[in-house]
Amino acid sequence: MSENEKILVMRSITKTFPGVRALDEVDIHVDRGEIHFIVGENGAGKSTLMKVLSGIYSSGSYSGDIVFNGEIKHFSGIKDSVKEGIVIINQELALFPDLTVYENIYVGHEVANKQGVIDWIETKKLAKKYLDIVGLDVNLDSLVRSLGVGKQQLIEIAKALSQDVKLLILDEPTAALNENDSENLLNLLVELKKKGITSIMISHKLREVEAVADSLTILRDGKVITRMDSDEINEHEIIRHMVGRQIDDIFPERPKFKGGKVVFETIHFNAYDRNLNRYIVNDANIKLKEGEVVGLSGLMGAGRTEFAHSVFGNIDEYKISGGIIVNEKHVEFSHPQAAIKHGIAYVSEDRKKDGLILGENIGQNICLSSLKKISKNGILNFFKQSFFAKKYVKDLDIKTPSIYQQLKNLSGGNQQKVQVAKWLFAEPKILILDEPTRGIDVGAKYEIYTIINDLVSKGMSILIISSELPEILGMCDRIYVIAEGLQTAEFDKEEATAEKIMHKATVV
Ligand SMILES: Nc1ncnc2c1ncn2[C@@H]1O[C@H](COP(=O)(O)OP(=O)(O)OP(=O)(O)O)[C@@H](O)[C@H]1O
Ligand SMILES: [Mg+2]
Repeated sequence: MSENEKILVMRSITKTFPGVRALDEVDIHVDRGEIHFIVGENGAGKSTLMKVLSGIYSSGSYSGDIVFNGEIKHFSGIKDSVKEGIVIINQELALFPDLTVYENIYVGHEVANKQGVIDWIETKKLAKKYLDIVGLDVNLDSLVRSLGVGKQQLIEIAKALSQDVKLLILDEPTAALNENDSENLLNLLVELKKKGITSIMISHKLREVEAVADSLTILRDGKVITRMDSDEINEHEIIRHMVGRQIDDIFPERPKFKGGKVVFETIHFNAYDRNLNRYIVNDANIKLKEGEVVGLSGLMGAGRTEFAHSVFGNIDEYKISGGIIVNEKHVEFSHPQAAIKHGIAYVSEDRKKDGLILGENIGQNICLSSLKKISKNGILNFFKQSFFAKKYVKDLDIKTPSIYQQLKNLSGGNQQKVQVAKWLFAEPKILILDEPTRGIDVGAKYEIYTIINDLVSKGMSILIISSELPEILGMCDRIYVIAEGLQTAEFDKEEATAEKIMHKATVV
């Protein structure tokens, strides 16, 4: 293939951070009009490579060449790459929650009339056009914060289209999406391909890679391991190259659950959202037994996270009714500290908003959940803090040059591992995990599942909220399905199937 059929060639890209060689002479190329995937373990260098390409890391801060449409480019910032039609949608979405849909699409490149005044009518018209292309039917005047992640993702793509995108870069766009929304997004990429738009996509969901990739590059420890074209792409081969070994079963085995006493129960439990003026949890009757893993399944927006927040005492916006019983005692939690005192912990799905402190290091973050364990008479024992930090870095294979690295410098997946470690450290009796493996690579997922199995074998009870059905089916002894805040089904492990769950998740 001649060079000019390639829209992009990145040659010998090397990028270092203090103590880390994030990219080591990386070569990739992407053909015009294809969907190219970049896959690899957490911390392999995927996001860094795309930040180099889009000018977030400016020319001069790395070595090697970016050849776009046959010309070497030196981007000194993201504006330069956007001018060329390269648009990146980052791992963490970059919309303004308090602006409207159309303002978000046009912020930074508003349509002005001849006098230089912003022409909002024209801006709105164009915004509507791009929303139609991405197939999103929302009110242009809605605030972005009122929309689910799936819709926000599509708004980001509409925004990219409005900037005349030639090469669309998506860093884990489906990580936070449920199966339906993911499928819509992938279909949209295929549609855009027909319009001649090239995409580069990063994903840990290998099934979707297999389904839509025209080609892919696998990175490990900052190096290219191999490139595959569509006819060679299959999940097993990808995993083998990615992890460097074969993983046959993604879910480690756990002995069949024998039953145990009920340690946590909600009885006719309701949460009324004062802002939305409706019940977001409606008559939940959920039981959790000692040593049991229970799944909470449902579509995005069904009220799974709201359920977790409301039983964890995170209830500023809710009016609660009905009961919670922990260890045979009626309890009421008006704030999370009260729930924690009763041995409940909640690993949030949103690691930035209510999870981690990005400016602090790994040990500080992990130990935050239980400072008592590492202090005496109010004085923190730093030796103990680093002991635990080292233990979890090893157990969960957290990629970092040292335990003193600030969280913001870790890759997305490695931040998530710290988030999980933080609550494992607290050793709660009842652990609620909300999307625990979002953005986590297949190898590390296995490690987290192994730890879950170990914890329940010691008597902990775990509630898993997950949008990934294979995870729910592979890990849970019992499964509740909820739809629009209502509990619609309960299945034992043996009787649950993906079809049954999907069916119950979509009917109310
Ligand atoms: N700003 C930074 N400062 C220091 N180190 C960094 C910084 N950004 C990334 N790194 C390190 O560079 C390596 C590659 O990180 P990168 O974010 O590219 O990984 P990734 O492949 O995107 O992983 P994930 O799947 O977890 O998102 C990691 O070891 C990470 O800790
Ligand atoms: Mg990343």
